[in-house]
Amino acid sequence: MTMRNRRAVLSAIAATATLTLTLAACGQNGEGGKDEKKGSAKGSTVGIAMPTKSSERWIADGNNVVKSLKAKGYKTKLVFGEDDPDQQVSQIENMITQGVSALVVAAIDNKSLNNVLQEAADAKIPVIAYDRLILDSKNVDYYATFDNEKVGELQATSLIEKIGLTSGKKGPFNLELFAGSNDDNNTKYFFNGAMKVLQPYIDKKQLVVKSRQTKLNQVTTLRWDGATAQKRMDDILTSAYAKDRVDAVLSPYDGISIGIISALKSDGYGSAGKPLPPVSGQDAEVASVKSIIAGEQYSTVYKDTRELAKRAVTMVDDVLNDKKPETNDDKTYDNGAKVVPAYLLEPVAVTKENYEKTLVDGGYYTRKDLGLK
Ligand code: GAL
Repeated sequence: MTMRNRRAVLSAIAATATLTLTLAACGQNGEGGKDEKKGSAKGSTVGIAMPTKSSERWIADGNNVVKSLKAKGYKTKLVFGEDDPDQQVSQIENMITQGVSALVVAAIDNKSLNNVLQEAADAKIPVIAYDRLILDSKNVDYYATFDNEKVGELQATSLIEKIGLTSGKKGPFNLELFAGSNDDNNTKYFFNGAMKVLQPYIDKKQLVVKSRQTKLNQVTTLRWDGATAQKRMDDILTSAYAKDRVDAVLSPYDGISIGIISALKSDGYGSAGKPLPPVSGQDAEVASVKSIIAGEQYSTVYKDTRELAKRAVTMVDDVLNDKKPETNDDKTYDNGAKVVPAYLLEPVAVTKENYEKTLVDGGYYTRKDLGLK
């Protein structure tokens, strides 16, 4: 028997075992149809696959999903894939074998989950894509995320406002571009959203990209890795800025922003005579909010993971109870196999001006979390 066949058989056995246990638990004889499923939803175990613990946001996401599921009476199994797509596939396979009732998945590599999601479908396990869309699989039921294009627009807008392009300055200003991981479907939405704002200024030469790296495939950062971004920024500073200054850097994510700022500082930026250029970000991670308060990173985009978790959990609960989850975008997120019905939440731009109002007053962080009295 091949490995894959064996897995299919194992998951079939697991699914049968779960059904038998569930029926026994509910004291039903198998003729109850939908009611049986309702009875089995509460108290069942929902599997949650998060991409990595190396970023604090995913730890918070995982915890928030667990909390919301428990509040609705579910048990949970939470795993982190350490940014390794193969590890994520086997973690999901294990959860299917263990007989979870539904899966919430934030993919590491959006194209690597096709086979394992087929196994989930064969075992009648619904799948909610969490924050990142899973591609090329029809076995994705719903998608909970933020308005990803808007995230990019907010990042770019914060930069052009800061350097004065929106208040009459003409430039030219030197800009460098960074994008996220090329195996994450969000990357192109963030980048396209940002370029919608930046391209007109690039066309008018009010923004100049001295490295000439302006295409998405030239500016991606595998697995959103800060050290990779730092190295690329170092190289750009050496090759394109011997005589010139960088005036702004588009960064798609806080971990990348920290890497970019390190490279800039090593090159002498951050002193009175050579101030740091504005650098954008995303996720409002503590290190970056502290950096914003200290006047280093300029902006981030706050995505309330508590709300995202609640939305994903409502989707799980609805699907398991034969209710159609609420969605607000049923046309944008075509994953190559189907258009996945989605619920998009609103991202919020954060700078030193409004971090207290957005992050502290909203209870996302305490002042102490941010190192404040
Ligand atoms: C994206 C996500 C961002 C950021 C990034 C790196 O998929 O939408 O908010 O977290 O991954 O983790």
